[in-house]
Amino acid sequence: MRVLVTGGAGFIGANFVHTTVETMPDAEVTVLDKLTYAGNPKSIEGLDRVNLVVGDIADMDTVDPLVADADVVVNFAAESHNDNSLNDPSPFIRTNIEGTYTLLQAVRRHHTRFHHISTDEVYGDLAIGEDRKFKPGDPYKPSSPYSSSKAASDLLVRAWVRSFGVEATISNCSNNYGPYQHIEKFIPRTITNLIDGIRPRIYGTGLQVRDWIHVLDHNSAVWEIINKGRIGETYLIGANGEKNNLEVTRMILAEFGREPDDFDHVNDRPGHDQRYAIDATKLEEETGWEPQYRDFAKGIHDTIQWYKDHEDWWRPQKAAVEAKYAKNGQ
Ligand code: NAD
Ligand code: DAU
Repeated sequence: MRVLVTGGAGFIGANFVHTTVETMPDAEVTVLDKLTYAGNPKSIEGLDRVNLVVGDIADMDTVDPLVADADVVVNFAAESHNDNSLNDPSPFIRTNIEGTYTLLQAVRRHHTRFHHISTDEVYGDLAIGEDRKFKPGDPYKPSSPYSSSKAASDLLVRAWVRSFGVEATISNCSNNYGPYQHIEKFIPRTITNLIDGIRPRIYGTGLQVRDWIHVLDHNSAVWEIINKGRIGETYLIGANGEKNNLEVTRMILAEFGREPDDFDHVNDRPGHDQRYAIDATKLEEETGWEPQYRDFAKGIHDTIQWYKDHEDWWRPQKAAVEAKYAKNGQ
């Protein structure tokens, strides 16, 4: 099987590439990645049967021949960070919307199976304490430039399925954690701050809830959907991992032997979504998927160890990431 993985040098895509070549001996993987600040070729270095093409998913001259050579395209490529989208939305529009459009036109032309990676954030947020989770048919109510650009890309996929018969599926996953996540994101930022002796930063109250899932569980669900999902359908991926930001910070502080209140409250994120929670019943019933990494405390322990063991991977970016946050008072 020839698999084109866009954004395969990023966090979730790189983990997907690792698992694919480890578990599918017949898979040949081409990664198409622009290597933005978030892409790191080291994350997929030295893997057998993986070919990296540096290029833009919004550039049809690059995309078309790669899609022509693929049996399946899995689209992880995106601008993915809410805070960046608040500072400058333009790359989000270009990559997340125009990039998805370009891929759709290519898979349409070559009749190639397409899987689009999206986010639970397209549904907006839930109230803290509310007894409700996101379901696949819920209305789209994105809050940020990031999530609205992802929502737009999902709608393009649905339209290309209906109008042009493109064979596509969509998955909307909750917050991932694990190895190779960029240190701008909450968990790796907190871990690498503590490695550097910096107090963790909590936006606003810290009572916001995220539904954490290990990245390898996300990716096993993606393969189940590619293999067993119904064309045109949307599947929500989640592992019942709701925790508020204070709880997560305190778990990490404890791993470092620090006091539970050894953090700073900083400026809140404008428009900050309060709570995400996923109802993954449709995915579980239709594909039989279930998460393997259910022990969040162990997952956090192993993730901390990964960042301790891979300082060469993240160190070159740390000072610039923190300088950018400092400008926002965060
Ligand atoms: P990431 O920012 O770590 O990686 C994105 C990758 O895409 C990078 O390698 C980057 O270089 C590449 N890229 C960016 N623009 C590109 C372009 N124009 N052409 C080609 N490559 C480009 O992101 P991630 O956290 O791995 O997220 C991957 C996907 O999963 C995104 O679509 C995101 O919306 C979605 N998602 C993420 C999470 C999460 O918790 N991280 C949860 C649910 C869904
Ligand atoms: O729900 C899926 C989404 O999860 C994905 O679509 C996004 O690509 C991914 O980045 C993630 O979005 P969040 O905005 O939830 O993740 P982030 O890591 O930026 O922040 C998680 C929570 O932690 C959020 O409530 C903001 C807060 N936070 C973040 C940082 C970086 C802090 O309190 N302090 C921080 O230093």
